Amino acid sequence: MFRGRYSSTMALRTLVKYPDLGLQQPSKPVEFFDEDLRRLADDMVETMRAEAGIGLAAPQVGEAVKLTVIDLSAGVDPEALIRLVNPKVEFEEGESIEEEGCLSFPEVILKVKRPARIVVSGRDIEGKVVSIEAEGLLARCLHHEIDHLEGVLFIDHVSPLKRDMTRRKIAKRIRAGDW
Ligand code: NI
Repeated sequence: MFRGRYSSTMALRTLVKYPDLGLQQPSKPVEFFDEDLRRLADDMVETMRAEAGIGLAAPQVGEAVKLTVIDLSAGVDPEALIRLVNPKVEFEEGESIEEEGCLSFPEVILKVKRPARIVVSGRDIEGKVVSIEAEGLLARCLHHEIDHLEGVLFIDHVSPLKRDMTRRKIAKRIRAGDW
């Protein structure tokens, strides 16, 4: 039986949650733009939509590769889907402080400072070189997902005090079986 490069036996993937160490290390660049990669991206899109998310990075489904999917329309507009491979922030400018969440931190909302505008380079799912200029929510989302591919989490962007408080709340929820 054929077994793909990425472990995939069903479309919906289990979300990896904090404090899993897999979320806290850099992912490897994608080398092969093949059926396995497309299938992983499809699985990620389905998992993201099932959770009503607008962005998901491969390490969040246990695959340490530089692939992220983003859909600000949350499934409403098929044109809005971005499947981005090996992304890199080429330019960033300005500051924006907004609340955001992360599918690996259920129900945790943090105010995070990110660049207001960014330019990202990378490849699409077919391997074609792409460049995305973004501001607002798309800039925030791209920055958040690219962080994931470097093992950086949104909790790493808040003050040490806020981070400690958040970690303690999470530990409490884990002990209570509410995580
Ligand atoms: Ni996230």
